[in-house]
Amino acid sequence: MASSSSSSSWALLFLALFALSNVSNGEAPSGLVMDFYKESCPQAEEIIREQVKLLYKRHKNTAFSWLRNLFHDCAVESCDASLLLDSTRKTISEKETDRSFGMRNFRYLEDIKDAVERECPGVVSCSDILVLSARDGIVSVGGPHIPLKTGRRDGRKSRADLVEKFLPDHNESISSVLEKFSAMGIDTPGLVALLGAHSVGRTHCVKLVHRLYPEVDPALNPDHVPHMLKKCYDPLPDPKSVQYVRNDRGTPMKLDNNYYVNILENKGLLMVDHELAHDPRTRPYVKKMAKSQDYFFQHFSRAIALLSENNPLTGEQGEIRRHCNLANKRFSED
Ligand code: HEM
Ligand SMILES: *[C@@H]1O[C@H](CO)[C@@H](O)[C@H](O)[C@H]1NC(C)=O
Repeated sequence: MASSSSSSSWALLFLALFALSNVSNGEAPSGLVMDFYKESCPQAEEIIREQVKLLYKRHKNTAFSWLRNLFHDCAVESCDASLLLDSTRKTISEKETDRSFGMRNFRYLEDIKDAVERECPGVVSCSDILVLSARDGIVSVGGPHIPLKTGRRDGRKSRADLVEKFLPDHNESISSVLEKFSAMGIDTPGLVALLGAHSVGRTHCVKLVHRLYPEVDPALNPDHVPHMLKKCYDPLPDPKSVQYVRNDRGTPMKLDNNYYVNILENKGLLMVDHELAHDPRTRPYVKKMAKSQDYFFQHFSRAIALLSENNPLTGEQGEIRRHCNLANKRFSED
């Protein structure tokens, strides 16, 4: 009796030590780890970094796309690169839904994937490439370097039907936005920091004309209105035409805290941007981030890491896609 109970307590002790050692190795409950490809493709992260830099030199806006991709992929149930899948005969893809309006540069992500595949065929997932390109894109536009875990695997299905459930619309209430982010473990300062991504890039007039016509939204800063009207001269813009306003007129190519200064001055373009500065739950953080770029970056880094770890596929789940826009063919090994 005594000996069997002591051997089971030894077993328990070993289990506890094993669990502890995993924690100290940085293994998260998500199953992701730092430098997952250390042995299987040691040069993976460097290749991605180089490709992101090269692409940024040629097309600055690729960096904005990598950042927006992270939100649109990870917030829709899982960071599984389902965002990148093409529509099929039977289903329409996430990237072709209305919430994905204006998303661009997907073909350049394939260039990154191809560069990685040349060195390590079939090893590095599109979801990790999506996440790491966002991390390196953030650095390109002057943001912080954020250490992020890897080991995600790729989903096989695009979930256009779920996009509206998970991704807030441009005019959604702050309550609903807070709820959607808190379901991913992202708190209020985390949400406020992530929306700082709107300090780069553009917004198409189709998402803005309801604030300009038939009459101008009185909440808009009157000094900003002439510029918006000039860019969005058409009350019913053709969705295919490239009419847009830059998100941050001051420093449109830099990820910085100017976004918070803008929204406090009622120069936020989207309704959510405007509300963020005026809702009593978010306003205090908006003010702090407007004052301190460090404070913004600190919460931004934390929240990007949380977003990037939302519900990934790991281990034997999913697959490593050969091409990011297509699920692998089943039952054919080569
Ligand atoms: C309440 C949440 C959010 C809403 C409703 C929202 C909505 C939008 C809309 C409508 C656009 C304009 C797209 C266009 O017209 O081309 C946009 C652009 C953008 N969003 Fe968001 N967004 C949200 C959160 C985020 C987050 C969390 C990130 C990243 C962390 C992000 C990154 C971006 C970027 C980088 C752009 C510019 C893209 C470009 O210029 O190509 N957004 N967003
Ligand atoms: C938000 O805007 C969309 C059009 O983009 C519109 O269909 C919807 O009714 C608006 N929702 C609210 C709550 O105003």
